[in-house]
Amino acid sequence: MLNRKNIEPFRAGIIGCGAITEHLHAPDYAIYEGAVIAALCDANLARAHEMRERFAPEAAVYSDYKEMLRKEPLDGVTVTLPNVLHAAATITSLKAGCHVLVEKPMASSLAEAKRMIAAAKAAKKVLMVNQCQRRSAVHRKAKEVLDSGILGKVLTVAACFGHEGPENWSPTGKWFFNKSQARFGAMADLGVHKADLIRFLTGKEVAEVNAFTARLEKKRATVEDNFVSCLRFTDGSIGTLTASWTTKGMDADYVILHCANGSLRVNEIPGKPLVANLVDPECTIEFELPEPLSVYKDSWGFGVSEGFVRATRGQEKPFCSGIEGAKSLAIILACEKAAESAKTTKVAILK
Ligand SMILES: NC(=O)c1ccc[n+]([C@@H]2O[C@H](COP(=O)([O-])OP(=O)(O)OC[C@H]3O[C@@H](n4cnc5c(N)ncnc54)[C@H](O)[C@@H]3O)[C@@H](O)[C@H]2O)c1
Repeated sequence: MLNRKNIEPFRAGIIGCGAITEHLHAPDYAIYEGAVIAALCDANLARAHEMRERFAPEAAVYSDYKEMLRKEPLDGVTVTLPNVLHAAATITSLKAGCHVLVEKPMASSLAEAKRMIAAAKAAKKVLMVNQCQRRSAVHRKAKEVLDSGILGKVLTVAACFGHEGPENWSPTGKWFFNKSQARFGAMADLGVHKADLIRFLTGKEVAEVNAFTARLEKKRATVEDNFVSCLRFTDGSIGTLTASWTTKGMDADYVILHCANGSLRVNEIPGKPLVANLVDPECTIEFELPEPLSVYKDSWGFGVSEGFVRATRGQEKPFCSGIEGAKSLAIILACEKAAESAKTTKVAILK
């Protein structure tokens, strides 16, 4: 909610009108009174028109984002293109004077991520990465519980994200399977969410990793459909991180944290999103979750657009800054190297 009536709505552009724009960004901006979707861009113009009809009847429509950036006076853009296009679109938008919220994984390499961060600094604009799991009610509450100290030190972590594959998510998303457009498979599509979430929940950094990747079912893909890794944190504690595009029957989207005084199960037990099992006093606590950050349930209740706009106005901290996104990406890149070399690999240190 805007707290001062005299603030003009944030003029947002969206670059990429595929599945994540349809399910998250467009409805999320549309419900937020602090912003208007002023322009929509997609190489497939029909998609941009479809999003305009459904969410932003006033928006100008483009097939070329450079033209959009030249012609439209925008405050910021949300970049939702295939992964390998994130860096170029982000840097071009920053240079055009826009704040940027870019989808995960923020880039294809750390070199790209660093260029994006440098471009934001040079332009004095906000760069944020849509590591949106940080904004879900269950994860915000889990962080509060861990920060309260009742569970004590986190000793081991197991994080897993799996579903049947992007073909069930995006009708136009063939690129997800093509390494030259996606750069990674399940590892960065889903794994980067949990790499980031582990860092967010525990406040720990990963020092080194081991990993395996496999292509078990998506035989035409040129990326992995499964990924399993072992993590060692800088404080010596350890964990596992798994991502899969071949999870059948029921999606997996959980973290378990085993701590000195008990365990915290986040989204692991069906119907019980957040459960702590404590040893002293021996008890089980089922936590109530806070209200979602957006009233619009169809956009997952994350309120990412509001978080982005408020961060550009200095009203709150970015929920995931460029450097935070890069640190989470660095874990995935180390895992890739570890899998390729069959060697324990250090995670790049970013400051
Ligand atoms: N945060 C999340 O939970 C989440 C979930 C799903 C996807 N994503 C990310 O969002 C991004 C997009 O994923 P998606 O599922 O929406 O894919 P998608 O294939 O459904 O949409 C991508 C869109 O980009 C358009 N496009 C491609 N090249 C273009 C160009 N040069 N200029 C303009 N438009 C172009 C395509 O026509 C398509 O409409 C990916 O990086 C993905 O990892 C994030």
